[in-house]
Amino acid sequence: MKKIGILTSGGDSQGMNACLKTIINMAERYNYEVMAFIGGYKGLAEDNCKIVTSKDADLYFGIGGSFILSGRYEPFKQKKEMNKALSVYKKYKLDALIVLGGDGSIRAANDLNALGLNVVVIPCTIDNDVFCTSKSIGFDTAVNNAVNAIDNIEQTMKTNGRVLIAETMGRFCGEIAMHAGLCSEADIIMIPEKKQSVEKIIREVGKQLNAGNDSPTVVLSEFQLDINDLAKKIEETYQKECKAIVVGYVQRGGTPTVQDKLLAIRMGVGAMDCVLNKNFGNVVSLIKDEIKFVPFDKAIKAKYKFNENLWQTFLELKKFKTEKKKKQN
Ligand code: F6P
Repeated sequence: MKKIGILTSGGDSQGMNACLKTIINMAERYNYEVMAFIGGYKGLAEDNCKIVTSKDADLYFGIGGSFILSGRYEPFKQKKEMNKALSVYKKYKLDALIVLGGDGSIRAANDLNALGLNVVVIPCTIDNDVFCTSKSIGFDTAVNNAVNAIDNIEQTMKTNGRVLIAETMGRFCGEIAMHAGLCSEADIIMIPEKKQSVEKIIREVGKQLNAGNDSPTVVLSEFQLDINDLAKKIEETYQKECKAIVVGYVQRGGTPTVQDKLLAIRMGVGAMDCVLNKNFGNVVSLIKDEIKFVPFDKAIKAKYKFNENLWQTFLELKKFKTEKKKKQN
């Protein structure tokens, strides 16, 4: 019987389980046995695996996380560690390996591919920072979760006349913050793609207060500054209560949205197409709403196309809202 390996790597993202179930169903349909490596590349290097069937995957379709566990595996940054993966791959006579993960996972997959393993990657990360695809699995759910959390907190902030600073995930990419900021009607958004100083953010909060917005919201993505420091400075400058919250891991859990389930199904089918057609060394990507296969070297070099239009939309709306507030007061 033919056999494929699957693993989920790096930070998990909602939709991984839906994608795994799709792959397993497709694999069974074409008479492949599926071997899951537990906890990502570590499971592959350490030969920690089990055969999984559609029955195992059944209950997990609409659930966040990964039922075969995920993780980051630092030793794979050294190529010599990868030989362990090669021997495990050979031991089980695998025909292919499907990896679900983000940009680090693609780099490792590229190295494994060079060693002779037949690898296909499905982009799964809440950060949406795999640039060969317009969307990665999990991003939509993470933004929805962030918006829900910020909306809830905003209700109590506005009732108490407090300034809110909400920090989203995203690593060094502002996609989650920009989308969540826009959809939670934040007054100020701070992202690494549009660098702004702390002083500028404090001034912007002041402008909102002067315009009559008693309770401005700042949404910013992580690793840019210390939000507690910022909150303290705002309180000192304007004698106004300011609360800093980290939206945190709530962004990475929960039921995937329909958009993410759909993407998971489409990409799972795409990965199995690659296996059936022996089209290896590719990242399954969404380009202009079509599933395409981007070779690893191109995927690794793909440049970030920041959505300038969306940023301009935010600035326009902000201008309009601030002017309206001024007139009302
Ligand atoms: O890459 C996804 C991500 O959730 C980032 O947004 C975040 O910075 C990081 O993972 C958190 O990683 P960990 O789960 O290792 O704390």
